Amino acid sequence: MNSSNAQMKAVTIPEFGDAEVLRVDTMPIPEPGPGQVTIDVAYAGANFAEVLYRRGVVDVPLPFVPGIEVAGRIRAVGAGVEDLTAGQPVAALTIVDSGGYAEVAVTSADLVAPLDGLGIEMGVAAALPSNSTTAFLVLDRVARIEPGESVLVHAAAGGVGSQLGQAARLLGAGRVVGTVGSEAKIETAKRFGYDEVIVRDRLADAGEFDIVVDMVGGPARRAGLDRLGPMGRLVVMGNASGAEDVAIPANELWFTNKTVSGFNLAAFSAAFPKAAGRTLRRAVEAAAKGDLRVQVETLPLEQAAQAHRRIEAGATTGKLVLDVAS
Ligand SMILES: NC(=O)c1ccc[n+]([C@@H]2O[C@H](COP(=O)([O-])OP(=O)(O)OC[C@H]3O[C@@H](n4cnc5c(N)ncnc54)[C@H](OP(=O)(O)O)[C@@H]3O)[C@@H](O)[C@H]2O)c1
Repeated sequence: MNSSNAQMKAVTIPEFGDAEVLRVDTMPIPEPGPGQVTIDVAYAGANFAEVLYRRGVVDVPLPFVPGIEVAGRIRAVGAGVEDLTAGQPVAALTIVDSGGYAEVAVTSADLVAPLDGLGIEMGVAAALPSNSTTAFLVLDRVARIEPGESVLVHAAAGGVGSQLGQAARLLGAGRVVGTVGSEAKIETAKRFGYDEVIVRDRLADAGEFDIVVDMVGGPARRAGLDRLGPMGRLVVMGNASGAEDVAIPANELWFTNKTVSGFNLAAFSAAFPKAAGRTLRRAVEAAAKGDLRVQVETLPLEQAAQAHRRIEAGATTGKLVLDVAS
């Protein structure tokens, strides 16, 4: 809802295409509707998800402001919002309607985590909402991890991969193994809770796992399914490789006692905003205690296209965040 004439800076997707389509633009500052807040954005996380919006993989109305997570200060609260106040420092998911690559973002109050007194830098806080929340939900709510269970995570040095290894540890996992696409990423991934990190094409020798988390797709998905032990669970949560979908025969699952599940944070947050917000706050608390670390590199908002190019080349480790306020 836009009832104000005041303008703000935002990065928009005016048409679907390569990173070059991203444009720094001005647009009306949003106002919060009932149950919503607006946030003066300090930093916005840059994610693979926003690359998918930009490519048109997810059909959104154009022009579209991407950005599924932010950190900043509450600007205004909508009707019915009682536990958040203007000026309060927060991290938030803006994943249901997007809009984080902007000076002001609007989201449901349910999807906000207060940062008061936690000592988390805003740039770090902006890196937590999407990947850290996803990591806890995937392992706890979808895979239903039990203490001591073994976990295999693909793209372990990436944004969500770096959180899954640590979340597995916090949830009591046994052996936690990560895969990466190249030797160069092994040392980075090892800092994020993994007992072992292996190059993905050597997966055949990695043993069996209770849980495999796949966001790479293609051969990595099939290899992950093959690495599941009895009663093992594969969680499908992305397709970063852009590979053709992998057909998983249901009869194979029947004969081998394997389970395949899917997870999508945007759809989950839309259907279960309170649960998504609770898990976000759990992730923020873990980060405040030093139990969950994020590796953050900052770029100015104006370099959003550069951030997208690096993400889609698989050339990043940890997380890129966009500095919106400086
Ligand atoms: N379902 C959800 O709710 C949810 C939430 C968060 C993220 N995701 C998904 O998880 C995936 C990773 O997201 P992220 O934010 O962690 O991104 P990221 O940090 O950019 O990590 C993506 C990683 O995927 C690997 N990869 C393999 N083939 C690739 C290719 N052709 N192009 C680019 N990367 C390739 C690369 O790691 P290696 O070099 O190690 O192969 C790359 O670093 C994405 O598919 C994203 O959509 C889903």
